[in-house]
Amino acid sequence: MKYAIIGDIHANYEALTAVVEKAQGLGAARFCCIGDIVGYNANPVECIDLLRSLDVEVVVRGNHDEYACTETDFAGFNPQAAWAAEWTREHLSREHKAWLRSLPLEQTVNTRLMLVHATLDTPGNWGYVFDKWHAAASFNYQRPQVCFFGHTHVPSVFDKCGRVSVPTGDVITLETTHKYMINAGSVGQPRDGNPRAAFALYDADEKRVELHRVAYDVETCQKKVRQAGLPERLAARLASGR
Ligand SMILES: [Fe+2]
Repeated sequence: MKYAIIGDIHANYEALTAVVEKAQGLGAARFCCIGDIVGYNANPVECIDLLRSLDVEVVVRGNHDEYACTETDFAGFNPQAAWAAEWTREHLSREHKAWLRSLPLEQTVNTRLMLVHATLDTPGNWGYVFDKWHAAASFNYQRPQVCFFGHTHVPSVFDKCGRVSVPTGDVITLETTHKYMINAGSVGQPRDGNPRAAFALYDADEKRVELHRVAYDVETCQKKVRQAGLPERLAARLASGR
């Protein structure tokens, strides 16, 4: 069974459609979503509807999903993120918000696979896993072999010894005696200097993970952000992946 692991889509419909097409072409049978379907870009409804139309195994809730479906104030958000979150609230239907509210913060799929948006130790606090110390806190709560997460928008792989340097070709062969925290990167707003959309392909039978990047129609997404009146910075950053 091959799973496509996608997350931090952030209402970028052009990136999501490119990733779905690529993943299906690579033989992905099911999709898993690590949260932040909405926020920042201009197609939250279209992205939720496309995601729900796929053969989805599980979807967990991200911080932008949570802010979009509740009346929580935007503490911790920078002004551009808060602006986009407010805009997203105004453009989602009651039904879309109810669906976002129904999503769990973390989910175990089976003995080998689980998902969370931010961290496993305190998933609702929206902390970041950027280094081995933050990864270590999550490993204390991890039962399955692999936990996919997002939130930083930077693809990365950790095992209990620290950050795993990903070999050429971005293929990770999973050692059966190890546990892994794997960040699949961001579909809709990459921040690692590579503007192409990111996702992971998890082959449960072959015990391997591939980190993929896909070019997409950045200009069309930028045009929609500008037409929606969202902050210019949110459009501009898509071209640089920062
Ligand atoms: Fe995000």
